[in-house]
Amino acid sequence: MSTTAIIDLDLPGPVISRHVYGHFAEHLGRCIYGGFWVGEDSDVPHVRGIRSDVVAALRALRIPNLRWPGGCFADTYHWRDGVGPRQDRPRVVNSHWGDVVEDNAFGTHEFLDLCEMLDAEPYVSGNVGSGSVQEMAEWVEYVTRADDSPMAALRREHGRDQPWRVPFWGIGNETWGCGGNMRAEQYASLARHYSTFVRDQGGNHVYRIAVGPHDDQYGWTETMMRSFDDLAADPAAPADPFQAISLHYYTMTGSWSDKGAATEFTEDEWYLALSRASRMEEFLARHSTVMDRYDPHRKVGLVVDEWGTWWNVEPGTEPGFLYQQNTLRDALVASTHLDAFHRHADRVVMANIAQTVNVLQAMLLTDPDSGALVLTPTYHVFEMNTGHHDAASLEVHLRDAPTAEVDGRTLALVSVTASVKGQGALVSLSNLDASEPREVVLDLRGRTVECQGARILTAPALQSHNTPQDPAAVAPTPFEGVREHPRGLVVELPAHSYVTAELRLT
Ligand code: AHR
Repeated sequence: MSTTAIIDLDLPGPVISRHVYGHFAEHLGRCIYGGFWVGEDSDVPHVRGIRSDVVAALRALRIPNLRWPGGCFADTYHWRDGVGPRQDRPRVVNSHWGDVVEDNAFGTHEFLDLCEMLDAEPYVSGNVGSGSVQEMAEWVEYVTRADDSPMAALRREHGRDQPWRVPFWGIGNETWGCGGNMRAEQYASLARHYSTFVRDQGGNHVYRIAVGPHDDQYGWTETMMRSFDDLAADPAAPADPFQAISLHYYTMTGSWSDKGAATEFTEDEWYLALSRASRMEEFLARHSTVMDRYDPHRKVGLVVDEWGTWWNVEPGTEPGFLYQQNTLRDALVASTHLDAFHRHADRVVMANIAQTVNVLQAMLLTDPDSGALVLTPTYHVFEMNTGHHDAASLEVHLRDAPTAEVDGRTLALVSVTASVKGQGALVSLSNLDASEPREVVLDLRGRTVECQGARILTAPALQSHNTPQDPAAVAPTPFEGVREHPRGLVVELPAHSYVTAELRLT
């Protein structure tokens, strides 16, 4: 039996912010050092120490924003350690990630230079766990002021005359865990305090993102939303202390002590991973419901600034460096999450997959010996979806969608989302079925369409992945399986595949 996806092209919904396609770069393993940064003396082609191939690959994704310097690292990071002449920067210990010595070669100027190369908006996570209000306030002053304030003068001494535009500021990270092990009430007060001093300066407008919950911690969301109810009700009060709260959720098939293998997995673990990934939908819906009680007009955003798969590290690699391979399964975990963000575009304003290069569910892997760059299957899903950036979401109603019972939950085996921008529309279709093809009729209402082209991401094995020796084992190819149908179009989805179809509204 075929599945029907009913889509009314004449009823555009909330805009899918391009920022849900954001990324995350932490001082962790080989993400910064060896991933983005090779240094000015490297043989690897670079501009001012930043790898040129990595920049080119991410520009092709139209990367909208980049979060830095952590993660847990952010709450140990003191920004002054990473500015000024490199040879004078102090060495510090990266206590969270491998206990390695960090030489601070990559700091604020290098990060903002990278963002300019990428044409991405910076998202800086401030240090609440071990920093101070003054330190964070001065960081904002340092990067954003054009005048001769003390911090702007220091920036000039360090070689940068013009301020940068830095819109996104995180008020700490995981303050319920590595960022300070705080109670919700305790952090909510601190967030109000810090936010007061993370302010607009020099024409730069700040968007403050406070630490929100992880997984199903609805109580944390409740406390955060309640914490500024009095300010919202007081017309004399200054602007809201924060404009968004974060949400973190990682997909694994095991537990925190044994998360499951990245490439050596069974068909059951394929389904388990996708079922766990699909919980994002439930978390978004339920955290939004809590937020709606305090913020019915949805002014406060939800920023999913850490998400993705977290597997056991590749055998033989440093456990603290979180280096993992990335298969077709990761690609479908990604498409499942992105679909959830599209469906919740009215609340989810931004998201950052963890992490961009060589760490967790990376876009890019760099070979430490040859220097080769590999694009992962997850990279290809992001690239195939660029048409959704800033497009209006379209509601998709599925009829006769196949399901499977996995891990005590019902997993929908077909996922479809769509968006429209001008005279173009993009439809994304995931077939999570490991072995069965699926036919999906796109019942397109309101407008007539022509299919301009389609692409498919699939591979012979569920475990297929890309390596320097076989870099295109999982890569998109043109797809011929979209045909006209009396109701619109029909798509023949092969087993375990991801398809995007570009439509022109006529
Ligand atoms: O992304 C890896 C780590 O996961 C981050 O540093 C932390 O915020 C989360 O626990």
